[in-house]
Amino acid sequence: MRVLILGGDGYLGWPTAMHLSQKGHEVMVVDNYFRRKVCTELNCEPLLPVPNLHQRTELWRALTGYSIRVEIGDVCHYPFIARVFREFAPEGVVHYAEQPSAPYSMLNREAAAFTLINNLVSTLNLIHAVAETDPACHIVKLGTMGVYGTPNIDIEEGYLEVEYKGRKHTFLYPKCPGSFYHLTKSQDGDMLYFYCRMWDIRVTDLNQGPVYGLEINGSFLDDRLAPIFNYDAIFGTVLNRFLVQAVAGIPLTVYGKGGQTRGYLNIKDTLACVELALLNPPSPGQYRVFNQFVETFTVNDLARKTQEAGKELGLQVEINHLPNPRKEAEEHYYNPTHTGLLSLGLKPHYLTTETLIEMLTLVQRYRDRINPRHILPEVSWRLVQPGPQNSPGDVQAGLMLASG
Ligand SMILES: NC(=O)c1ccc[n+]([C@@H]2O[C@H](COP(=O)([O-])OP(=O)(O)OC[C@H]3O[C@@H](n4cnc5c(N)ncnc54)[C@H](O)[C@@H]3O)[C@@H](O)[C@H]2O)c1
Repeated sequence: MRVLILGGDGYLGWPTAMHLSQKGHEVMVVDNYFRRKVCTELNCEPLLPVPNLHQRTELWRALTGYSIRVEIGDVCHYPFIARVFREFAPEGVVHYAEQPSAPYSMLNREAAAFTLINNLVSTLNLIHAVAETDPACHIVKLGTMGVYGTPNIDIEEGYLEVEYKGRKHTFLYPKCPGSFYHLTKSQDGDMLYFYCRMWDIRVTDLNQGPVYGLEINGSFLDDRLAPIFNYDAIFGTVLNRFLVQAVAGIPLTVYGKGGQTRGYLNIKDTLACVELALLNPPSPGQYRVFNQFVETFTVNDLARKTQEAGKELGLQVEINHLPNPRKEAEEHYYNPTHTGLLSLGLKPHYLTTETLIEMLTLVQRYRDRINPRHILPEVSWRLVQPGPQNSPGDVQAGLMLASG
């Protein structure tokens, strides 16, 4: 299959490219290096050094014989992405090319505006490029479980059947995003649903939970092929952050009570889910939604598991409850359905102590690169009022030190 990966330089995009290319698919990656540039700007460099896409694809070819084509450019620039579609003629597209951080989207007006424009215009351009070149091309878009929020009823897979005054109708499941980023992911889903109904394109929206992990296929052939792995409070996902904190001897930063429950998955399962979705496309006009995670944990569960695994390696891991910089329920009902990908054949990897030890061991190799300044959350969800401690600039920026 010819697969185009938008956002192919990212944490998920690059491993997906390697995975699909070694499965024999013809792969092209597109990226504008937004993630790298913003990490440099915010001084939150990833744990492992990451060569650029040209260097990584050359190394990949030298080590495996598989080639991955590269195009550097912005998906929001329509002439660029339309040309890529005409030249590569993909049968499937994986859309990762969005601004993926909730704290970044809450940083200030500029970051919110960038998130809005980038995430919606990239999706719009993708839809138009597909419609213009080959409406049968299957769009696999990465969504997030965060679009649902934490309702006090079970979360279904994308849709909800409602009975009202004796009549029934099936709606998209109501959305209640908890950050501006999550709001844009709700909106791009609505846009895809709209064009499925209007133009009969076919779409799979993978509502994914937070991903953890670094190991691909047991071990890297070369560490320079590792994905971008952030552990800072803006771009690091929670378990990845905890692993680095454990190795650095910094108390694990649990926000608030730590009862926040989410559905998690190993990066290996992300790759399997994306491939399963590509190999089993929906019908024309179908907007198919899968909830992509394998098990649920509270933040406290993750902290305790990291602590236990750390003990096995002789690490003294402390847990610290910080004032919560986010506005979210810290104890709540959470029961999301996730049967779609299992029924397509997903064989989940669960979060065992062995898995955590493997990841901690890998992080230990890069211990010297850990910058403790990246650890504490600095972005607040609340509107910070001017006061003696906050300059008007801080209010505009929405910045605060959660540790007080
Ligand atoms: N990582 C997770 O835990 C997770 C969980 C749920 C959903 N997701 C979703 O998966 C997708 C990928 O996440 P990730 O963690 O790999 O993020 P990432 O930032 O590492 O990858 C996204 C890539 O897209 C690129 N990009 C962004 N805008 C672009 C544009 N306009 N043109 C070209 N390239 C562009 C970035 O430079 C980056 O390399 C995102 O849509 C995110 O919302 C991720």
